[in-house]
Amino acid sequence: MKQASSKASRYRYLLGDAARERERLRVQAALWDPVAHALFERVGVRRGWKVLEIGPGHGSLHLEMRRRVRGPVDAVERSAAFAASLRALCQKDRLGEGRWWQEDLLDARLPADHYDFVFARWVFLFLPEAARHVAKLVRALKPGGILAIEDYYRDTFGMIPLPTEWPDFIAADKGFFATEGGDANIGARLPGMYRKAGLDLVEITPTIKIARPGDAAWSWMTTYFFGVMDRYAGTPPFTKAKAARLKRHWKAVEADPTSLMVAPTVLDVVGRKRSRGRRR
Ligand SMILES: C[S@@+](CC[C@H](N)C(=O)[O-])C[C@H]1O[C@@H](n2cnc3c(N)ncnc32)[C@H](O)[C@@H]1O
Repeated sequence: MKQASSKASRYRYLLGDAARERERLRVQAALWDPVAHALFERVGVRRGWKVLEIGPGHGSLHLEMRRRVRGPVDAVERSAAFAASLRALCQKDRLGEGRWWQEDLLDARLPADHYDFVFARWVFLFLPEAARHVAKLVRALKPGGILAIEDYYRDTFGMIPLPTEWPDFIAADKGFFATEGGDANIGARLPGMYRKAGLDLVEITPTIKIARPGDAAWSWMTTYFFGVMDRYAGTPPFTKAKAARLKRHWKAVEADPTSLMVAPTVLDVVGRKRSRGRRR
């Protein structure tokens, strides 16, 4: 346990907050925000709710939740650059100032039994000790409050026709997140963590995008994976030579309209905090 805690305190966020990453997040959000909006609709996020978002990044969903509650939304965002630009955007909608913790989630002194809704998209796959983070968020929820996390079950990721280098590339993808204690398949482990942390499971809803060359989803996956390919190339058994061959294959299949990419699945995992005294 001591060792695990020190890993969390050394945590380094793998993708950073440079202008290029912010732009990638913006384009990615345009593709995926409708999935989150449908989730907010099912959950019934509404006027007056107390809401907390973890890792809003460039912040399109943060602004959307403010519109839905017609007021401020709180946030934990470790990046000073992302927090500053989103706070400036929040001033424009005149819905009020939320509470911000500009630090790692594990360090934030969140109120207990406070929120109706806590939301995070694409944050948990980076985190060491995910169960500790879930427990922290459950503590911050009111009894009956909802935790919704959108994150990956990446094992569906595939390319047709399949390159020879694919298994090593996939191993490097998992290894990349594991370097900081994260898990690229975290979405599939969240339901079990929810139960242990005192949540009743409300839904597990998968979204899988299947892309053809020229589709927005094809370029979303290409932008991310070409952006990290050099870093992945240092994760054995994936090598620089294999990365170069994979890129050539990727470009070749992109020129063939019969090619397909099956995206990593995004799971919406939603749970409700049990009322006191109710055991399962
Ligand atoms: C991949 S981005 C996702 C951004 C946004 N949620 C979205 O869906 O576009 C991950 C975000 O989580 C933030 N983050 C990463 N680790 C964090 C932590 N331990 N505590 C708080 N924020 C964190 C990053 O700074 C970044 O803004």
